[in-house]
Amino acid sequence: MVGGCRLEGRVQVTGAKNSVLKLMAAALLAEGTTTLLNVPDILDVEIMGELLRRLGCTVEHRVEASSVTIEVPATLDHRADYDLVRRMRASICVLGPLLARCQAADVALPGGDNIGSRGLDMHIEGLIRLGATAVNEHGYLIASSQGRLTGGEISLDFPSVGATETILMAAVTADGRTVIDNVAREPEIVDICEMLVAMGARVAGIGTSTLVIDGVESLHPVTHVTVADRIVAGTWAVAAAITRGDITIMGARAEHLQIALEKLVIAGARVDELPDGIRVRMDARPQAVDIVTLPYPGFPTDLQPQFIALNAIADGAALVTENLFEARFRFVQELARLGADVRTDGHHALVRGRPRLSGAPVEATDIRAGAGLVLAGLVAEGTTTIYGVSHIDRGYCGLIPDLVRLGARITRQHEPEL
Ligand code: EPU
Repeated sequence: MVGGCRLEGRVQVTGAKNSVLKLMAAALLAEGTTTLLNVPDILDVEIMGELLRRLGCTVEHRVEASSVTIEVPATLDHRADYDLVRRMRASICVLGPLLARCQAADVALPGGDNIGSRGLDMHIEGLIRLGATAVNEHGYLIASSQGRLTGGEISLDFPSVGATETILMAAVTADGRTVIDNVAREPEIVDICEMLVAMGARVAGIGTSTLVIDGVESLHPVTHVTVADRIVAGTWAVAAAITRGDITIMGARAEHLQIALEKLVIAGARVDELPDGIRVRMDARPQAVDIVTLPYPGFPTDLQPQFIALNAIADGAALVTENLFEARFRFVQELARLGADVRTDGHHALVRGRPRLSGAPVEATDIRAGAGLVLAGLVAEGTTTIYGVSHIDRGYCGLIPDLVRLGARITRQHEPEL
């Protein structure tokens, strides 16, 4: 890519990766055909589809219709193998539904990844509270229960997205009431809760810190529209600000991005909320903005690299604090190759804005680091080559054609590996 182009025009945001993968897992809870709409065309959807097929489902992903249909049989296999789990850590989200449906789940332990160690202790403790046993054997988490799970009271140490989902999806068909306190409140969690309620689950407190779930005997399949991807929308918002451009992000929901949009306003952008989207405009060099990542409704960790890129060319210095994933600052070493001035110390990064970045070859190590590097490449003088684009494919569908339509000079040199 060659930097220096102002981005202008409209983009459409599709459904959220971090919702649709869990909605696909939730489908396991009901025998019959579930249809998901507004599904993004990303690699992780293919991987999750393959995982569900191995469990006995028939899965059809119709890219042109942005839909996935999942036919769930009466009897499921309950093993998620390492070859798929290692490719996509989110595979762990089948744990709760499998345990609920089969009274057994053998799920390969995902291990660490490029953004940190990412424990499962809260998932496991929650399932134990619902009457399951769980052991770690030969690299697999082997969970089982004698008959139906039973309702229980759980207070999470931290509002973990994954642990909230695992326990919620296990509890919806448990015998009796489950109360989960200090749950994650991300829009993707609300989306899963809404689908579960449509399937016949009884879930109260949706969108708050406490979920109260009254178990039902069984659920029925539904058609559900995936919530819009707030992180993709936020990435486009930063693209507008960093290129001093003007982008209308259709399908984006401003209420899911409040703090991030406020930060852009502080940086000097004009942000307009539209009936079906957000328009972000910028016509001057951005001002540096401090960031502290926190669980929703705090500033999302998944937008942290994009805002480091923005700060790298801003006027002034910014302190960025990462509270969720300890290794997410690894990408600043790549950003430094483009001339960014970033110093890290533990979970803090000090970004001193520079008037210009200069193009160089860099490597994307995870989805959001990749997004941050693309944004930096858009404003770096000369040519930037980003390796490891398959990471970006996992979270952003049609990114390069969209960038080209908005005025970027970017081409793809290799097809993604599947
Ligand atoms: N944690 C534990 N023990 C647990 C669970 C979590 O220590 O039992 C820790 C993790 O190690 C981490 C923190 O709690 O330090 C947050 O983890 P959380 O469970 O909230 O995150 P996650 O479910 O693993 C999801 C998204 C991430 C997103 C985070 C935070 C999916 C597939 N992934 O991860 O998305 O950053 O929530 O919002 O939904 C991405 O899309 O690039 C991405 C990494």
